[in-house]
Amino acid sequence: MSGFHDINGVLHVDNVPLPDIAKQYGTPCYVYSASVIRGQFNALKDAMARALPANRQPLLCYACKANSNIAILKLLQNLGSGLEIVSEGELLRGLKAGFSGNKIISTSFGKNESEIKACLKAGILQFNVESPDELDNINKFAGEMGKCADALFRLNPDIRGGGNSKIETGRKEDKFGNTADDILRLYKIANEMENVTPLGLSIHIGSQISQANTFKPAFEKLAELVHILRGKGYKVERTDIGGGFPIIYNDEQLLDLDEYAGFVRDIILPLNTQIQMEPGRYMVGNAGILLAKTQYIKQTPAREFIVLDAGMSDLIRPTLYEAYHNVRTVMNSNRNAKTYDVVGPICESGDIFAKNRSVNEVNDGDLLVIESVGAYGFSMASNYNSRPLPAEILVDGDNIALIGAAQTIDELIARENIPDWL
Ligand code: LLP
Repeated sequence: MSGFHDINGVLHVDNVPLPDIAKQYGTPCYVYSASVIRGQFNALKDAMARALPANRQPLLCYACKANSNIAILKLLQNLGSGLEIVSEGELLRGLKAGFSGNKIISTSFGKNESEIKACLKAGILQFNVESPDELDNINKFAGEMGKCADALFRLNPDIRGGGNSKIETGRKEDKFGNTADDILRLYKIANEMENVTPLGLSIHIGSQISQANTFKPAFEKLAELVHILRGKGYKVERTDIGGGFPIIYNDEQLLDLDEYAGFVRDIILPLNTQIQMEPGRYMVGNAGILLAKTQYIKQTPAREFIVLDAGMSDLIRPTLYEAYHNVRTVMNSNRNAKTYDVVGPICESGDIFAKNRSVNEVNDGDLLVIESVGAYGFSMASNYNSRPLPAEILVDGDNIALIGAAQTIDELIARENIPDWL
């Protein structure tokens, strides 16, 4: 069996019991299932294959901000994925995982000199441009390096979309993208630049978008601008339609991929462009859990707390976005359910994974998992409270590998220095 499932009352990932992983690698740790990632990649790929002709399949560029562990990148690269990056660090991870430059897209918001130059050196497929000054810099640095950069312009379609306001990116008040009028100006400028070739448009309107309908007006605005640009004689060869596909955290309705792909077929396909997509969360979100141990049960007059050894430094989504993550015990005994607040050891009241949550009765030392943390889990972890980053483990059938070693406290402190004048 693949993925996370119960065998005789013990939670397993593929064929491996989670208590074995806790014993071998300690807690807290992130555990990922390779088969779930493969399943997700193929589900999206197949939905597009059903809707679009074989010679017009999109380039799926995995948005690795969701989870940039190089083993996860390698797994996706093996499946034929491209890569969407937002920093020099993500570029270097992608190259290390074996992605060739011509399958890498840079969409970062405030591209800096070192990053632009590293992207040019790697021969990435394109830069998705966020602002006029950024375009100038790309042209300048490409000129210095004797290169020509392919550029797409990110459209801000002024459309609402996304699970909550912190992960919406396509409203006019958001920092992302350019208006249609600005893109018309930028395209003209870029067309006259020596070291930039304008080749198309991109959009990304938000994350965890559960209604396929939300994408439709954004696609229509993109298509309209493609026609206007072509009417002015400009080349538009690529359209990057972004990411934003949802996963299940609780009882959400999942986006109907066929309905989504239908909009791509009806609105984007007729543009005769190379189609690109940037899915992040969808590929990896449901493929990861955070495995933690109950340090203490604490009873107060108002509440009963499960105090885990994992905290908001390991997974910040619940407190940052008030995001729901399912919590369950690893040994699924027939103990009665009780209502708890599930918290971490960090000195903040916001260090909460779940409030008023019904969980099988838990004792000190019991293992718990927090589900659906494969995306924006480890990648947003921090060292707050001087806590070392947790280990990451990948399971594939019977194979288990430590794909990210836990940091040590010594490593944390070693980078710091007391000046001799103190
Ligand atoms: N493309 C661009 C330009 C993006 O900004 C993003 C995500 C993606 C693609 C991938 O979006 P996805 O398919 O994963 O929805 N930390 C938040 C999510 C922030 C997403 C930022 N941009 C969270 O934990 O929910």
